[in-house]
Amino acid sequence: MSSFENLRIVDNFYQTSLFFPMPTVVISTLCEDGSTTLGPYSLVQPYYVAGKDYYAMLLSCRNSSNTAQNILRNGKCAISFIDDNPKTFKEAVKLSWPGDKPEDKMPKCNFKLEKSLIEEETGEVRPMVLTDAIQVIECTWMRELDGAADDAAGELNGYEPPYHDFNGITSKFGAHFILRVDKILMKKKYSDAIINGVKAKDFPPLPVDYGYRDSKNFWFHRKTRMRAELLQMRQASLESVRYAADRVDDKVKFTDEALKTVLGVPRVFLPLVLKGCVDWAKENGVELIDESHMKIIQDKRAKEKAKK
Ligand SMILES: Cc1cc2nc3c(=O)[nH]c(=O)nc-3n(C[C@H](O)[C@H](O)[C@H](O)COP(=O)(O)O)c2cc1C
Repeated sequence: MSSFENLRIVDNFYQTSLFFPMPTVVISTLCEDGSTTLGPYSLVQPYYVAGKDYYAMLLSCRNSSNTAQNILRNGKCAISFIDDNPKTFKEAVKLSWPGDKPEDKMPKCNFKLEKSLIEEETGEVRPMVLTDAIQVIECTWMRELDGAADDAAGELNGYEPPYHDFNGITSKFGAHFILRVDKILMKKKYSDAIINGVKAKDFPPLPVDYGYRDSKNFWFHRKTRMRAELLQMRQASLESVRYAADRVDDKVKFTDEALKTVLGVPRVFLPLVLKGCVDWAKENGVELIDESHMKIIQDKRAKEKAKK
């Protein structure tokens, strides 16, 4: 017998049938007159995280919102992560009344705005960002994905089919936007922590949102104490790494000392790592990869990662 109850799965199941922890962001977009408008959102998540030509976020929203309409119109937005001060959350909720136009809500909005870093650097007109945000992702909608290039703004009473599967107008009242990450901005205190290595005290105070419930309240909690859980590194044996290494290439070989430097690499990544070493060796006329070569390869990889 199951130890669980079986819940009905209904519209907005993430907040009506589940306790689903979400981030809280304020998305800024550009209106037709060039002004910036703001809307609070939680259904945002990383979408392309590796292995593509660019990185992307995914936003799920009502297609008649100012945010969706502006993204359909000019494709630009900025995702500002607010802090967990209840006053800040209250200010975000103030911006959430469906149907409020920018001219209704922006004059009463107390969030301070500043010029986008992209606009500052390139002159390209972009939505402003929240000055008091902890971090901001400046984005561009990838309208060519899923054939959404012709999706247009202007329909506020529900779009007619056909609908896309995952980008653009995806249902009568719904939209999904795959948003290329153009720039990540972060307050110095937190970017220092990322660059120098975080300790528990360095994590920013971000709220966790549990959505709109009882047709009445948005529920959230403030940051709590951070804990670190150590991943137990598994060391492969030299023989098992040697077995894989001897099969990567018929000419290029590895010394034991070289292979000892990759004993900590998880088994699933090993072929890729060894293949990368062999490719480097071939480019550089090396037939026996030793420890010093591995150091050069690792430094090169670290540099490439830092460049990205
Ligand atoms: C904390 C919070 C999170 C929200 N998350 C979403 C969301 O992920 N998707 C959505 O469609 N609406 C969400 N809403 C409701 C929108 O804010 C609401 O539709 C608002 O009218 C959008 O503003 P806009 O029309 O200016 O874009 C959220 C509201 C709050 C307060």
